[in-house]
Amino acid sequence: MTINPERLKHIEDHEGQTFKEYVTNLRLSPEDFDKKILDVGSGIGSFAKASKERGLANDIYSIDFHFVPYETGKGAVADVTRLPFPDKTFDLIISNCAIPNVLSSQFDHNKEAVEKRIVDAFDECVRVAKDGGEVRLSPVFRGDYFESYRVLSAAVTKALQYVKEKYNVDVEEIKIGDKRESSFSDEETAHIDGEKSDSDRIVREDYLVIIKKPNNNLDEN
Ligand SMILES: C[S@@+](CC[C@H](N)C(=O)[O-])C[C@H]1O[C@@H](n2cnc3c(N)ncnc32)[C@H](O)[C@@H]1O
Repeated sequence: MTINPERLKHIEDHEGQTFKEYVTNLRLSPEDFDKKILDVGSGIGSFAKASKERGLANDIYSIDFHFVPYETGKGAVADVTRLPFPDKTFDLIISNCAIPNVLSSQFDHNKEAVEKRIVDAFDECVRVAKDGGEVRLSPVFRGDYFESYRVLSAAVTKALQYVKEKYNVDVEEIKIGDKRESSFSDEETAHIDGEKSDSDRIVREDYLVIIKKPNNNLDEN
């Protein structure tokens, strides 16, 4: 059976678009592609595939909770809160449109459960980063319009504090994109998740979060 050329073009366009999004959101430089990368919440691994096809990188691993990545030798179905890799395996851990945002909407919405998943996810990402390595997550939603954003923001703050204390990492939060104001009236949003809304508040701001692990090997020399 041959694939309809229109369908193939659609898939290629989608992959190209995803690739561009990764590079922009995560501020990836050409040098980054020489690193050993782990993409968490990778979907089917389009970023690894597109990077390989462009001759940029062939050492990108992908993990996703629901999807089997294209390259099974360099990927797995796994939960970011329990990564199947030894400590200090990767130079760069990345996540585009996935971690931590998706963790606030899974299973159990209560604040403690969301916080625990996000703290565990950050802990795991930093654990598998080599000394001198980096974790980059984007976009990370910050905002207070909906209760879910408030819970997510508080959990991210807590998770960043946790990894700072545990691994002595440096953290940078870079605002990307525009601040999104509410375009809804209170009446329009009143029914959403039973939320109490306020149309003057910020809906959300998006950040690139960069976590840098200290280079302990250099310190010892
Ligand atoms: C919006 S998609 C983004 C996919 C890809 N990064 C992209 O930009 O095209 C979010 C992905 O996160 C994955 N995901 C959700 N929860 C996860 C978890 N706990 N651990 C790993 N991946 C997870 C989902 O299965 C989904 O593929």
